Amino acid sequence: MTLSPAFLDELRARTLLSAVIAPSVKLTKAGREWKACCPFHNEKTPSFTVNDEKHFYHCFGCGAHGDAIRFLTDARGMPFMDAVKELAGKAGLEVPAPDPRSRERAERAASLTDVMASVQSWYADQLQGSEGGEARDYLKKRGINADQVKRFGIGFAPDGRTKLKNALHSLGEEALVETGMLIKPEDGGAAYDRFRGRLMIPIKDVRGRVIGFGGRIIGQGEPKYLNSPETSLFDKGRTLYNLDRAGPASRAANRLIVVEGYMDVIGLDRAGIGEVVAPNGTAVTESQLERMWRLEPSPILCFDGDNAGQKAAIRAATRALPHLGPERTLRFAELPAGQDPDDLVKSGGREVFEEVIARAEPLSDRLYRHEAAAQPLTTPEARAGLRQRLLAHASAIGDQALARLYRDEWLSRFDAEVGRRAPATQRFTPQRRGSFVKGRFVPPEPPLSDTARGISSTGIDGRTARALLLGFAHFPQLLADHAEQLATLPIADPKAAAARNELIAKAFSGAALDREELTPIFAMLGAKGGTPSRNVISFSFTRPDSDPARASADLAAAVEALAAGEQVDRALALATERFKADCTEEAYGEQQRLIEAKRKLNERLASLAGTD
Ligand code: UTP
Ligand code: MN
Repeated sequence: MTLSPAFLDELRARTLLSAVIAPSVKLTKAGREWKACCPFHNEKTPSFTVNDEKHFYHCFGCGAHGDAIRFLTDARGMPFMDAVKELAGKAGLEVPAPDPRSRERAERAASLTDVMASVQSWYADQLQGSEGGEARDYLKKRGINADQVKRFGIGFAPDGRTKLKNALHSLGEEALVETGMLIKPEDGGAAYDRFRGRLMIPIKDVRGRVIGFGGRIIGQGEPKYLNSPETSLFDKGRTLYNLDRAGPASRAANRLIVVEGYMDVIGLDRAGIGEVVAPNGTAVTESQLERMWRLEPSPILCFDGDNAGQKAAIRAATRALPHLGPERTLRFAELPAGQDPDDLVKSGGREVFEEVIARAEPLSDRLYRHEAAAQPLTTPEARAGLRQRLLAHASAIGDQALARLYRDEWLSRFDAEVGRRAPATQRFTPQRRGSFVKGRFVPPEPPLSDTARGISSTGIDGRTARALLLGFAHFPQLLADHAEQLATLPIADPKAAAARNELIAKAFSGAALDREELTPIFAMLGAKGGTPSRNVISFSFTRPDSDPARASADLAAAVEALAAGEQVDRALALATERFKADCTEEAYGEQQRLIEAKRKLNERLASLAGTD
């Protein structure tokens, strides 16, 4: 039975909203509005307002919002048509007679929901009956108590092809087939029970009427859940399990949690969390998103901590993009690997689950993280691919202003994190070059993140650093080619660092680097007269008697290896951060690859030192 929007507008216009609300809520006048303590949540100071001119009420505390009809259905629990009839009666309006076809459809649906109600109560009886023993044990094992069985209307379909068919034949075979409770074979054979030997969980519409069932096998077996087929009552993609109960609960709690399955909803209910819905084992649809957003601007998706769960979360994120707005988004909570919400509250209790929820990520972060982890970002092509995917997601957002904000945020994050993560191809950038202040070389800022800083702050060990610098003091002609690499090496030892800065200053000053000029540097390195002391690792280039060609080749190789090592350290710090953040196989792979690269560089350095 559908009423025209024009009729409903007329009804609203002729109804004084405050007069509808006043019998159940104590209203006080506040300017042009009325104020009261909200009937939809507990409060001591009034945040519930009623506006007669605009014909709606609104609570600033819990967000309850609606017109006169909504008030009667939500606060007084009246069925929609009864509310309309009551208001129309008072307003002197005739409720238009439904056209015959829609009346027929409505009556048919009404009779089918009656059928479902009878089926549900029969299943509930079977659970308590002689055949329900195993199912009752199963419920006990899962920690589902009698109170929950009652509240969720859980029942049991006994094993056998005609148990339901025979017991409920008075409802009519046709109606039982139409509601999906019986299967009528195509070949004209006899109809038989669809659900056999399963725990029966009723699925209700927003008003609490049973429209379908999820049947769980008792113990192990396939399929684990058998759901009602699509019927004229049950449209899977438009249904959310527990929506009828989650509506009021989400208003009180100011949040909505979306989980994958029936048992997650029931498990969270046991922990005292009622604002929970679940898509019925389907990918989240646009219509389901709409329904969630009617309750809450930013529902929290809390899917299983496995691959399938995370894939489903990402699919929901991309599906939401075209519809996002300031009051319509999603958040994402990540569960420990291999766990679902039911497992988590069972083992850790409500507190642990609340911690997971408190850490929920905004959609923009979740999607970025997903795309950044999709493949190792070790080549320019891979990085370009990431940038492209981010831009494509941003352009899928329908709200243009929001799309721009997503684009800006993602691109600046990309530039900061990825544009600079380029182990092999990274070039020397001006801001990392160091500079001359009053003729002295000032080394560049330590680059990148704190973690990166922490790892490379130990720097090159002093004995190696001094050896390298001694090499350059012996072969200053190599400085021109390697000054930039030398400049960025993390040299912690203060004397060696000072020597490095002197060397580079001299190299850049363009002065001829004769022996005399270099004397102070040898002194700084504790190598008076060019003979190294014991606190220098011995390389060909640290010994005055080495073959000069060989020594300068080794020096070049050593500085190359150390500079590359420093790059690898930085990339490794980033990869480690990334691995900690999302534990993906790709992040792990990248980390391992870099560790291997670092090992090879150390080997190379050791082999240079070891030879004569
Ligand atoms: P799960 O396999 O995570 O179910 O599927 P669960 O809720 O953790 O099940 P328990 O705890 O072992 O009983 C999540 C949801 O996917 C749908 C159901 O809606 C289920 O709740 N599903 C799963 C099916 O429809 N059919 C299946 O065979 C499996
Ligand atoms: Mn699960």
